Amino acid sequence: MAKTRSNAKSKIAVLGAGGRLGATLVRAYSPGYEVAGFTRGDLDLADLDKLRSTLSARKFDVLINAAALTNVDYCENHRDEALHLNAEAPRVLAEICRKQNARFIHISTDYVFDGEKRAPYLEEDPAEPISVYGESKREGERRVAEANERALIVRVSWVFGPDRPSFIDAILKKARQEETVVAVADKLSTPTYTHDIASLLRPLFEKESQGGGLLHLANRGECSWQEYAQWALDCCHREGVKMKARTVGATSLAAMTHFIARRPIYTVLATEKYERITNQAPRDWHDAVAEYIREYYGRQL
Ligand SMILES: NC(=O)c1ccc[n+]([C@@H]2O[C@H](COP(=O)([O-])OP(=O)(O)OC[C@H]3O[C@@H](n4cnc5c(N)ncnc54)[C@H](OP(=O)(O)O)[C@@H]3O)[C@@H](O)[C@H]2O)c1
Repeated sequence: MAKTRSNAKSKIAVLGAGGRLGATLVRAYSPGYEVAGFTRGDLDLADLDKLRSTLSARKFDVLINAAALTNVDYCENHRDEALHLNAEAPRVLAEICRKQNARFIHISTDYVFDGEKRAPYLEEDPAEPISVYGESKREGERRVAEANERALIVRVSWVFGPDRPSFIDAILKKARQEETVVAVADKLSTPTYTHDIASLLRPLFEKESQGGGLLHLANRGECSWQEYAQWALDCCHREGVKMKARTVGATSLAAMTHFIARRPIYTVLATEKYERITNQAPRDWHDAVAEYIREYYGRQL
C-alpha cells in the first residue's frame, strides 16, 4: 500500500493504541506513515454506532485492531461482554474496512486452540477453544472473515513489550524482591516481542497483492513459562541488573488454583505460512527477550 507517486503518506489507524501491542505499533509506524491511534477513551469497542460514525468519517488505508478484552479470567465470567468486544466489534470493523476499501488486520490469539496438539499449530488446524476468551476470539475470527474476505487475521502468542507489563515483567519484579520465584513448567508456547510483531506485520500491508485469511505470527522456538522466566533472569544477571533470585523453580498449571479460566497446555504457532508469503523469518524468542532486557532493564542500572 506504500504510496509511491504522491507525497502523501499512507494512513494507518490503530485500535488499542493504549495497550501493549497497539502502543508499540503506533510508535513503530509513525515515522513512515500517518498514524492515528485510538485508545479505549477515544473509541470504545462497545459502542458500535460510534465505531461506524467515527471510522466512516476518516480516511485510512489500513486499520489494525489490537484492541480486545484480553483478561482471560474476567472473560470467563463475562461471556456476553467478551463476545461483544472480541467478536461483534471486530465484525463491524471488518465491514467498515470493506466499505472503505481499506486493509483490515485483526489480531487474534493462540488461545483459540485447545492445546492438545504436541507440534506447532498450523492455520488449518481446528480451533477449539477451552475458555470464553478463546471462544470469543475465535468467534471474532469467524465473523471478520465472513464480513471481509480481504481481512487478515493474525494470531500471536505470549506477547511482551515495553508498553504494558506482562508475565515476564511480573516475574522479574518478583525476582528483584525475593530469592525464590517459581513459574509453570508444563505449559508451552512462544514469547513474542511487540517490536518484532510491528516489523513482521509491515510486509503484510505494504504489499498491494496480499490476500486475506488466517496467519500465525510469533517469534521462533518454544518454551515453558519457567524456561521463559529463567532466560529473562539470566539476561538480567548478564546485563548487571540487580536481582535477588538466580533460578526459577518449577510449578504446574494444575497448581495455579487462582486461575478461573482453563488455559491450553501447548499453543506453539507454526510460522511457515508467514515465512512463505513474506520471505522473512521471525527471530528466535531468546534473542527477542535478550534485546528487551538490554533495552528496557539494562538502562535502569
Ligand atoms: N498479551 C498476550 O499475551 C496476547 C497473546 C495472544 C494474543 N494477544 C492478542 O493481541 C492483541 C493485543 O493484546 P495486548 O497484549 O496488547 O493486550 P492489552 O495490553 O490488554 O491491549 C488491549 C487494548 O484493548 C483495549 N480495550 C479493551 N476494551 C476495549 C474497549 N471496550 N474499547 C476499546 N478498547 C478496548 C485496552 O484498553 P485499556 O488500555 O483501557 O485497557 C487495551 O489498550 C489482542 O487482540 C489480544 O487478544 C495477546
